[in-house]
Order: sequence, then structure tokens, then C-alpha cells
Amino acid sequence: MQSGTEMPFFIKPSVTLSAEDKVLAYKQLSEAVKLQLADEEDDILKMATFNALAKTYMPYFYWVGFYRVNNGKLSVGPYQGTTGCLHIEFSKGVCGKVARERKTCLVIDTHELVEGTEHITCDAHSRSEIVVPVFNNTGELLAVLDVDSTEKGAFDATDTTFLEAIMRRLFGSLPFT
Ligand code: SME
Repeated sequence: MQSGTEMPFFIKPSVTLSAEDKVLAYKQLSEAVKLQLADEEDDILKMATFNALAKTYMPYFYWVGFYRVNNGKLSVGPYQGTTGCLHIEFSKGVCGKVARERKTCLVIDTHELVEGTEHITCDAHSRSEIVVPVFNNTGELLAVLDVDSTEKGAFDATDTTFLEAIMRRLFGSLPFT
């Protein structure tokens, strides 16, 4: 059993990409999502497969997964990474903030947030984060997509643009072009 400070053998630290390589990686991820999931209707299957593709193409994605709206709170859905907390109240964490405000939140340094209220630490190695709301085609909040990196400042407007577009194509009404 791994100690709390060690990464399990199957988990690696984030590898930061240059701005240009990040765009190239997202274009590859977007194409892979289109090829594999454009005609898929099952949400859980789409979430699980998106996570696998994201871990394949995005080397700075340390933890990637979904928290699904469940009876007025967020409950963990498909994810890849170390153990994620099971449930999150809408009043807590970055995920709860995104569920309340229905807009993407970029966290440059999780250590600057108030632990337990503004941020919930599931893994001590996580240092920056992006959380994206996931809406269905009627605009209802289905889930939030949570991505962590072990590096500070790993996420920026490029991540927001591409992840929002991928989520709208997978779960919303944006067509796969
Ligand atoms: N950091 C998130 C909680 C989810 S674990 O990181 C996977 C938050 O503050 O809502």
C-alpha cells in the first residue's frame, strides 16, 4: 500500500507543454474524441473514454474525471488518477463553485485557496486545476469535468477553450465538425 506522499507506480508527475505543443495536443485529443465518440450516446461511456484519451494525449493531466450532479450534490463519476473524494457539496471546493456558477474555473495554485472550503485536496501532489461545467443539450448541468496538474499554472485560456468545446460536443448541442 502506497504511503500518502508517494505516487502509485501507475501514476506519473505532470509534464508541462509549450503553448504551441498544448494546442497540437488538444487538436489530437479533439480528433480522437470525434473518431471514437461522435456517434456515442451513453454518457458514462463517453466520460470514461474521454478520460482515457485525455490521459493519452495530455501529459500534464495528472487527475482527470467527472463529478456528476446527484440529488443536489456532486458525486464522483468516471476518472483516472489516485482516489478522488466521493461526494462534494455545491457549497464546497472548486467543483462546487463551478456547479453553482455554471462557468469554468482556472486555479493557478491550489495552495492559495482556503482548504476545505474553496478547495478540496484529494491528492497532495495536485497543484493547479481547471474545472469545466458539463451541460446537456437543454442546458441542464450534468456534471463538472475536473483536471489537476502537479505543476503550478498548468492551465490557461487554451485549456478553457478546448475543454469547453469538447464537453459541448460530447454532451451538449455543439456538432462534431
Ligand atoms: N479539487 C477538487 C476536488 C476533487 S479532487 O481534486 C479529484 C475541488 O476542490 O472541488
